[in-house]
Amino acid sequence: SFKVDLDQSAGKMSRDMWGVFFEDINMGADGGIYAELVKNRSFEFNEPWMGWKKLTKEPEGTFLITNNSKRKGNPRSLKIHNPKGVQLGVQNEGFRGMGIKKGEQYEFSLLFKEASSGMRIRVELLNEEDKVIGSSELTLASGSDWQSGASKFTALETVAKGKLNVWIEGAGDVEVDMISLFPMDTWKNRSKGLRKDMVQLLADMKPGFIRFPGGCIVEGRDLASRFQWKKTVGPIEERELIINRWNTEFKHRPAPDYFQTFGLGFYEYFLMAEDIGAKAVPILNCGMACQFNTAELVPMDELDTYVQDALDLIEFANGAVTTTWGKLRSDMGHPAPFNLEMLGVGNENWGPQYVERLAAFKKVLNEKHPEIAIIASSGTDPDGERFAYLDEQLREMKIDIIDEHYYRPPSWFLSSVSRYDDYDRNGPKVFAGEYASHTTRPNGPGRSTWEAALSEAAFLTGLERNADVVQMASYAPLFGHVDGWQWTPDLIWVDNLNAYGTPSYQVQKLYSTNTGTDIVPVKWNGAAVAGKDSLFASSVYDSITKELIIKFVNYNSKPVQVNFDINSKKKLKQNAMKTTLANGDLSISTSFEEPLKIQPKVEQVNYKGKKIADTFAPYSLTVIKLAVQ
Ligand code: AHR
Repeated sequence: SFKVDLDQSAGKMSRDMWGVFFEDINMGADGGIYAELVKNRSFEFNEPWMGWKKLTKEPEGTFLITNNSKRKGNPRSLKIHNPKGVQLGVQNEGFRGMGIKKGEQYEFSLLFKEASSGMRIRVELLNEEDKVIGSSELTLASGSDWQSGASKFTALETVAKGKLNVWIEGAGDVEVDMISLFPMDTWKNRSKGLRKDMVQLLADMKPGFIRFPGGCIVEGRDLASRFQWKKTVGPIEERELIINRWNTEFKHRPAPDYFQTFGLGFYEYFLMAEDIGAKAVPILNCGMACQFNTAELVPMDELDTYVQDALDLIEFANGAVTTTWGKLRSDMGHPAPFNLEMLGVGNENWGPQYVERLAAFKKVLNEKHPEIAIIASSGTDPDGERFAYLDEQLREMKIDIIDEHYYRPPSWFLSSVSRYDDYDRNGPKVFAGEYASHTTRPNGPGRSTWEAALSEAAFLTGLERNADVVQMASYAPLFGHVDGWQWTPDLIWVDNLNAYGTPSYQVQKLYSTNTGTDIVPVKWNGAAVAGKDSLFASSVYDSITKELIIKFVNYNSKPVQVNFDINSKKKLKQNAMKTTLANGDLSISTSFEEPLKIQPKVEQVNYKGKKIADTFAPYSLTVIKLAVQ
């Protein structure tokens, strides 16, 4: 039997250990969680008409995309010239169509100027058969300055791949921009907000933190296309879009229309983190483009701008409303600070160039903001090991937290469960910042199966047993859109209407909703339960809820009968909550048709005294929760 020693703490842990990793990959942001339905709303994609179709043949009237470089971040707009007042229109195809729900309200909006008197906009939402399923009209006021217009309407049908017609009616001229359509029913009903179902899946995980905005998009293919947070805040019509680093990345799902419009920008990321009770963990470019692409480097004597971005970000998140960036945060609607505690410098970066740049960031950040912990990248060794030289140098630099990534086969996850058992406790903490078990490596990434998820569950017992040093952990990537993905497996799959969690999601959620403050040793013959007989266990105590929580993985095709003997001076309630995720078939997965094919089964169980004697299902993760009095 196993010994669980509640009287012997194996160290303190962060209650916020389990979090989420957000990157705009697989249409995670644009076309995904950011609920905008119009693609290329401001005609700023490389190909200005991408996503649009003219509905009326010229020369009855003309459409002209103009370019005014004085308009910050958004130089292009559409000029319409219609002297005869014929019906002129454009159609937007959406991001792989528009997901529309019957009975829901939608808000159409645009910017316009110099409208001739009596000009109107009529919008029509179409289903897949081009039938109108919702429409509204808007009269455009005259005036030479840009002004906004909006109209609301209700959809009459549910369609997965709708389209939007925008008709310009009346004779004369008008200039338009930011042609937009959003559902009104967004997360927290925020106007032009986020897709409710997708945020809800994150909120349900009760994540301790959310890391953003990536991932490789932090780095960019080259430095010009790196993620620059300052371009993602302020009025959305002024946010300068860039081509997404994942545009056309993989052969299996090319996405030449994949841009980052930054409607979901840093302010919105911070807000989402706050909404779901997660700490915000931004990662910034360290002066290096993606080393799997151009590996472009900013010269050391030009690194200041990058370091300044970090300082300004701290001011944006935490600064007083009287500071430049704190004021912007306040003007955007959040006078209170966002309480930023940590900041990543570099994503998957390595080599002497990285160390040199990181050191420059660290010097300034430590001097000006000793309260902010710095997360450094451990690079990515193709064998899933750490780069020893880098590890050593990061230690010497006294980096606070090291971000490790591992996309490896299930066998690696099972055999690496002791990865941190002998980790030096006198240095940086670990952020297991991106991981996923890939069932078909090395030939391809594979599906998210129960095999992948259960191997992750086993590995996570190792992270939890070592939670005194593994401070944070997050699966990656987070979202995959069925019609626009570049990378699998992913934690959550979406289409234009629905979203569901994979088996890995269920595992992550069980961990993050059963976290603790103290590591409790679980031993089997005096050693950690780390894979012997394909059994894995970890245990925590939560001093806030006063609960003992045991996690147990049976990676066998047969049930196992197991006893946990609990050593505790405190009294335990007999009535325990037992939550099991199990399936005898490791190849199963979830889908839109069967989103809950694998889901937790919750039971109340009465154990006797300080002994848990139970039988655990084949291929299962079980969480047992006991109240401690
Ligand atoms: O999660 C997908 C990618 O994997 C991330 O962008 C990158 O950091 C890693 O290589």
